Amino acid sequence: MESKKIIAHRGMSTLAPENTMAAFELMPAYNINWLETDIAITQDEKLVIMHDTEISRTTNGIGKISEMTFAQLQQYSAGAWFDEQYCAEKVPTFDQLIDFLNRTQINVNLEIKSVTGKDAKQLTNSMVQQLAVKINRINPACRVVISSFYPDILMQLQKLRPDLEYACLFNPYTLPFWRPIAKLIGTKIIHPDNRHLNQRQVEKMKQAGFEVNVWTVDRIDRANQLFNWGVDGVFTDIGQDFPSHHKQKRHASHFLTTWF
Ligand code: G3P
Ligand code: CA
Repeated sequence: MESKKIIAHRGMSTLAPENTMAAFELMPAYNINWLETDIAITQDEKLVIMHDTEISRTTNGIGKISEMTFAQLQQYSAGAWFDEQYCAEKVPTFDQLIDFLNRTQINVNLEIKSVTGKDAKQLTNSMVQQLAVKINRINPACRVVISSFYPDILMQLQKLRPDLEYACLFNPYTLPFWRPIAKLIGTKIIHPDNRHLNQRQVEKMKQAGFEVNVWTVDRIDRANQLFNWGVDGVFTDIGQDFPSHHKQKRHASHFLTTWF
């Protein structure tokens, strides 16, 4: 039986504040060995872990991450918004994430976020160049997949690091173009949006030899359905609700696999 990936989306993001060390550190307790997280950059070119371009949703600060220094960012709590017990959490650095991966041997999907603001181009270049080097510090025992919604960013990194694994991210509007975009990147890994994804689309991707990891799947029955269609992995905010070990069972009625 091939193993199906349960990928903790921004860490254990319904148990602890998303994209914090606290959310990552909970993963081993739930036997989750894949993490998806988001790479961003500060004004003074420090690689950090943050989903939004603006910090107000996930910290107690305000402003664009690309327009504040790392020192300024560190003044804010990245966990108080979630629960007072996490008020000491800071926005993690990429280096902190690497240390965590190396210690736990957890596999990772690094999503490169877009940079906004007046220095967007220069900061994007810096982010790509730093990633190209820093990724070398990740233990080779950890599988690393780099993804983005922006093919141009992936191609920029690919020029520097053709040896890495890349995945294209699609929303329902871009998904019709999955074949040419994947060809452009030269990848066989696709990360489609769960919304509106149907069996026929998944079967076409699998028949074409693609690894398919679907975001964001927060229902066990939907994950089960996707896996029965042939999907390889699901990004989820509720990793804790999936059993630690997936055992195949058979439903006598319809002979579909029950993964959970
Ligand atoms: O990588 C899958 C998913 O995380 C992409 O969307 O907006 O949650 O980063 P988002
Ligand atoms: Ca993401």
